[in-house]
Amino acid sequence: MENRKRETFSSGIAVFFATLGSAVGLGNIWKFPYLTGANGGGAFVFTYLICILLVGMPVMISEFYIGRKTRKNAVGAFKELKAKPFWKSIGFMGVISSFLIMFFYSSVAGWVYSYVFKTLKGDFAVLASQSMEQAAATVSQQFDAAVGGPVSPFVWQVIVMAVVSIIIIAGVRKGIERITKTLLPLLFVLIIICGIRALTLDGAVPGLKFLFQPDFSKLSPSVILAALGLAFFKLSLGMGTMITYSSYFTEEDNLFVTSAKVAISDTIVSLLAGIAIFPVVFTFGMEPAAGTGLLFKTIPLVFSKIPFGNLLLTAFFFLTSIAATTAMLSLLEVPVAYFIEEKEMSRNKAVLLTSGIILLIGILTVHPKSIFGNVVIAGKGFFDLFDFISSNILMPIGGLLISIFVGYIANREDTENELSNHGTLNNRGMTKTYLNILRYVTPALLIIVFLNCIGIIKL
Ligand code: TRP
Repeated sequence: MENRKRETFSSGIAVFFATLGSAVGLGNIWKFPYLTGANGGGAFVFTYLICILLVGMPVMISEFYIGRKTRKNAVGAFKELKAKPFWKSIGFMGVISSFLIMFFYSSVAGWVYSYVFKTLKGDFAVLASQSMEQAAATVSQQFDAAVGGPVSPFVWQVIVMAVVSIIIIAGVRKGIERITKTLLPLLFVLIIICGIRALTLDGAVPGLKFLFQPDFSKLSPSVILAALGLAFFKLSLGMGTMITYSSYFTEEDNLFVTSAKVAISDTIVSLLAGIAIFPVVFTFGMEPAAGTGLLFKTIPLVFSKIPFGNLLLTAFFFLTSIAATTAMLSLLEVPVAYFIEEKEMSRNKAVLLTSGIILLIGILTVHPKSIFGNVVIAGKGFFDLFDFISSNILMPIGGLLISIFVGYIANREDTENELSNHGTLNNRGMTKTYLNILRYVTPALLIIVFLNCIGIIKL
């Protein structure tokens, strides 16, 4: 059988770390804390957890089913399931989304890499002796100088793509599996150390209260929508990433258990990032800043004022670079697997082609305010445009179509068979609950989010 010639991960542990590597990314380190800050803390976190349970996990399990059953890339999987051509568009949209996400993700990852280098050079050591205002100005200048220059951000983007390409060329086991199995445990250790340090600060109690004590008066439709969107982006859903990865899963893997383990661990990383950041933010009386700003302008500032700050700063950006890198592996593998299997390219050629396209177009995003920063399409710079089309349009549609496909179109017996590992697992009750949520709850929530995102309804 030609299917069997494909690579698979070597064990359950490898499946877990690779999948977790895809989920854990810039989403945990800056998006989660920033959105939590902007949306009022505990109530947002609570809503986010519910969204993971009702939307994230059901869609993830569905993608696992499609991928492992067919053992094909995102487009080939729907062909293999003999789905009507319409459903193949999910796969095509996935390939396009992964390019769009990588265009800007690779440039933010480049900023993170450059910050690891900057902290190692000791660029932020001066902050310790400066007043808070001076230090804030220095950090801002440093950020603009690092990412606003015409050449250096692009060089860092090339370095990121080179690192990711080398790992992907090495293949599923020697590349993805080896790197994620080695680096993710390290990421956990580093983020726990940063979290423990933050807990010893004066602002620890208000910080933790902010994160964990829900004040439900802060809940509003827009908070719920933000939480739902984040659940999607966080678990790498709706665009074929999990279909592609699960096509390399082992036959013995329990898909329900893997999805639960990945969702829980990913959430723990997000919460640890919150635990590392909020006590510091409260200790220094700062406002939770917006987006990329929180990571690059706030973190150097806050770590500079505490003992061992420089070391912790390097650790923090290093763990962020690990997260960004392992997430990018999963993004790159989507088009690569597609080109190899559907266009019959060699792995090397597929990787070079994909990375080449990303660098050519990705240069447009290296800094929203630099070379191409003045070009505006539909009211947005390239960076925001790529983010908007992928996260707000293609991924929700992808997630909705996947839940409808598995919930209503796919052969039910087939689904039950795959999810129970051909009857070896006794999980009928679980499968039934999952299918009910997938058919009724998930699509309804997604339709509401999507209509809101494109402005058709305003909640
Ligand atoms: N989940 C990653 C993060 O949180 C990003 C990511 C990787 C992603 N692959 C994806 C997002 C696929 C959407 C779709 O940073």
